[in-house]
Amino acid sequence: MIQLQSIQRRYVSDEVETTALADIDLDVRAGEFLAIMGPSGCGKSTLLNTLGTVDRPSAGRYLFNGRDLAQLDEAALARFRSESLGFVFQSFNLIDELTVQENVELGLAYRRGGGGDRRARVAAAMDRVGISHRARHFPHQLSGGQQQRAAIARAIVGAPELILADEPTGNLDTENGAQVMDILTSLNAEGATIVMVTHSPAHADIARRRIDMLDGRIVSSVARAL
Ligand SMILES: Nc1ncnc2c1ncn2[C@@H]1O[C@H](COP(=O)(O)OP(=O)(O)OP(=O)(O)O)[C@@H](O)[C@H]1O
Ligand SMILES: [Mg+2]
Repeated sequence: MIQLQSIQRRYVSDEVETTALADIDLDVRAGEFLAIMGPSGCGKSTLLNTLGTVDRPSAGRYLFNGRDLAQLDEAALARFRSESLGFVFQSFNLIDELTVQENVELGLAYRRGGGGDRRARVAAAMDRVGISHRARHFPHQLSGGQQQRAAIARAIVGAPELILADEPTGNLDTENGAQVMDILTSLNAEGATIVMVTHSPAHADIARRRIDMLDGRIVSSVARAL
């Protein structure tokens, strides 16, 4: 599904150059559940944002199902993200002024389809993560675990092929973190490809492959025996 070839990402600010990604080669097969670990600042979020096309590499190639994404303009990339990707963040990133239901519906931006179909999809996504009873609540009226489940509903409402999760359990207690991992595991079992950044070795063990990063490079890749 994904091929990263010699990806580099450099940031230049105030004459200082930071190399966030030094030289990344990575293949992700459809249906994989991949965990990314490594110390703070090693480039995990930059790698995830590159996979999500919200950050552009300074050099290298990114092929998605054989298509070179560097060839797409911003509008085509936005459509690609909306059709193929779902994002989950450590800080949930829900819109405070919108209800849960309206937040989830944002995941269908750029999507065609009539009102009835949209409502059915939103209802199914909220049901899937057990948040339907909070549909009309605003994010600040929810617990952290509920907010993250709403954010997952937003990520999956368009049935994306690839789910990108950046420390999805980082702000949650053990029990809510375990719930989020259960949801991700069952989404993966149903066919979604998942790439997840985590600082939790236990959560990395739930993934089927783990890569470790250091200073903008992948230093190991270990598949879990099934
Ligand atoms: N917009 C930016 N401008 C300049 N440098 C940046 C920018 N974003 C990230 N960096 C630098 O790139 C490097 C990698 O950052 P990144 O956010 O990918 O790390 P991370 O592995 O996700 O860390 P953490 O575990 O703390 O989230 C860091 O040295 C960071 O300071
Ligand atoms: Mg990060």
